Amino acid sequence: MDGNIEEAKSKSILVTGGAGYIGSHTTLQLLLGGYRVAVIDNLDNSCEEAIQRVAQLAGKYGGNLTFHQADLRDKEALEKVFSVEKFDAVIHFAGLKAVGESVAKPLLYYNNNIVGTLNLLEVMIAHDCKKLVFSSSATVYGQPKEVPCTEDFPLCAVNPYGRTKLFIEEICCDAQRADPEWKIMLLRYFNPVGAHPSGIIGEDPRGIPNNLMPFVQQVAVGRRPELTVFGTDYKTKDGTGVRDYIHVMDLSDGHIAALSKLFETNDIGCEVYNLGSGRGTSVLEMVAAFEKASGKKIPLKFVDRRPGDSETVYASTEKAEKELNWKAQYGIEKMCRDQWNWSEKNPWGYRSPETTD
Ligand code: NAD
Ligand code: UD1
Repeated sequence: MDGNIEEAKSKSILVTGGAGYIGSHTTLQLLLGGYRVAVIDNLDNSCEEAIQRVAQLAGKYGGNLTFHQADLRDKEALEKVFSVEKFDAVIHFAGLKAVGESVAKPLLYYNNNIVGTLNLLEVMIAHDCKKLVFSSSATVYGQPKEVPCTEDFPLCAVNPYGRTKLFIEEICCDAQRADPEWKIMLLRYFNPVGAHPSGIIGEDPRGIPNNLMPFVQQVAVGRRPELTVFGTDYKTKDGTGVRDYIHVMDLSDGHIAALSKLFETNDIGCEVYNLGSGRGTSVLEMVAAFEKASGKKIPLKFVDRRPGDSETVYASTEKAEKELNWKAQYGIEKMCRDQWNWSEKNPWGYRSPETTD
């Protein structure tokens, strides 16, 4: 570890979207790994408090973190950030991610996610920084015909959010093909849940959560009366949808592994990796694990399937294990324990009842 820290010390990483859920956890792990980190975030779906807490958790490494409040669509602002510091690599989390909203406001999603990424790539080229880790999603597998999903499965997007991920993957591959100096990792996340074990940072979605676990968490703390379970007639063990939940700390460490690989390998090109646990868990199993971890009963309301939902999705993790030397460590008990610890300590996230929607 010390050797790694020595090596990381000389490296400076730009993290876009670093105030958000996955970005804040990854920023912390980068700092603890000895990297210097600059975060750029427009705070559209996050707040600066998250950055302050990351610095606090990082202890003696907290001084290696800088924050720039800026929008990736503002190229001048981006230029400014690159002109004050030379970055060795960029981890690009910044983007909008609500599927329903993307259907209602597709142009907003294309503008934010795609224009933001194009600006970033152009400014990176201008400053000769050509190492990138990009947050893609299992959503690019659409409704997979079989599981586990391997990286070479056919890709298809079923909503504008998914299409932004698919387009950005292609844009990255094209950029790399045109200029082999680029080294790019496309990481397809499955379902990130949980929080840092301290309960000091975690997920704090704005508005009504779309995803299962943030919703469960808000029911547990009394912010919502019940969980709506979408679909009970899937051909799964208990009729509810099956997904691959991955602890956000494991996911963050997956980024450190990807980054190390980028620095170590000369001819990486543009490579794609699944980051998941490789295990499938149903909605009811997840609720039961959370009830056990929290001691709270989660009232359920069973309704029809949610349009666009798949029956069963989980990852093949073989490629990441073999090539990144990374494997998820935590099971759903630990995910639920840490999720509950965060929500019990921060029932209104980083905000207060008055400032929460
Ligand atoms: P998040 O919303 O918590 O974090 C994203 C951050 O990006 C936010 O802090 C937001 O303010 C910032 N941002 C958005 N647009 C920006 C812009 N134009 N300029 C600057 N900052 C901007 O989301 P997250 O869960 O941490 O997800 C991070 C990334 O991972 C996203 O790209 C998301 O699509 C992807 N992803 C997330 C999941 C998941 O379930 N959480 C699954 C697969 C992929
Ligand atoms: C959703 C998105 C996907 C995105 C992923 C991670 C859709 C159609 N897909 O996928 O694009 O990449 O989140 O951000 O939105 N569930 C309930 N009740 C709820 C919420 C969810 O029963 O209130 C069920 C779902 O039907 C599903 C499981 O819980 O079976 C997980 O849902 P969710 O957390 O939204 O993740 P995904 O469906 O994998």
